[in-house]
Amino acid sequence: MRRKLAAGNWKMNGLSADLGELDALAGAASGPDTEILICPPATLIATASARAKGTGLLIGAQDCHTNASGAHTGDISAAQLRDAGASAVILGHSERREAHEESSEIVRAKARAALEAGLAAIVCLGESLAQREAQNTLDIIGGQLAGSIPDSATGQNLVIAYEPIWAIGTGKVPTLAQIGEVHDFLRARLERRFGAGVGRSVRLLYGGSVKPGNASEIFTVSNVDGALVGGASLKAADFLPIIEALETA
Ligand code: 13P
Repeated sequence: MRRKLAAGNWKMNGLSADLGELDALAGAASGPDTEILICPPATLIATASARAKGTGLLIGAQDCHTNASGAHTGDISAAQLRDAGASAVILGHSERREAHEESSEIVRAKARAALEAGLAAIVCLGESLAQREAQNTLDIIGGQLAGSIPDSATGQNLVIAYEPIWAIGTGKVPTLAQIGEVHDFLRARLERRFGAGVGRSVRLLYGGSVKPGNASEIFTVSNVDGALVGGASLKAADFLPIIEALETA
């Protein structure tokens, strides 16, 4: 059985004063079936981890470098994130693929670095609106999946997040059928590449305008094991109902 995962991506939001939001989430993080992960900006990982210690609330990061150490001014290695208390790292988010021109090859190298440092990799995939309208969604997703995932991935160290670019921060959400089509496709591709055991154990998250009002129906879709939430993860009052919807799904 795959454990459900409610993951929050704070992106470039949050100061020390916002860490109080974690306390309410920590209280909710004791259920055996659902993991709760918050990925704050790098500046808050160490203090967030200290605050969440012993509660079951997991803390993650939003990016890492491909190398374990070295002359890379301003970058952060996977080992450093782990040292700061992170247990996972988001990789290949569309905001990084676009703004930092990260190719799937770079994402795979980062994922490899993350796994070697003992972090779980949450690898993001997603099509643009133009690609969906041209009916290229599965080709794009299949290519990103093949290119971004290292061979050493397992159900323990890999999570995939399907985030259609046009749904991020827009309030637009794909139909349940569209989400289901992509998630079933991802599951089939993972089983084909890694075998049924590993392929069935990798968790698949949906991300893009997940809110308290739409979470329950999204979690009814087959092969949706949780969500990667941006805006609605910043406040516990918004994220808690999403967590509850996942727990009761
Ligand atoms: P929103 O939930 O704000 O649409 O962001 C989704 C996202 O990009 C999570 O990584």
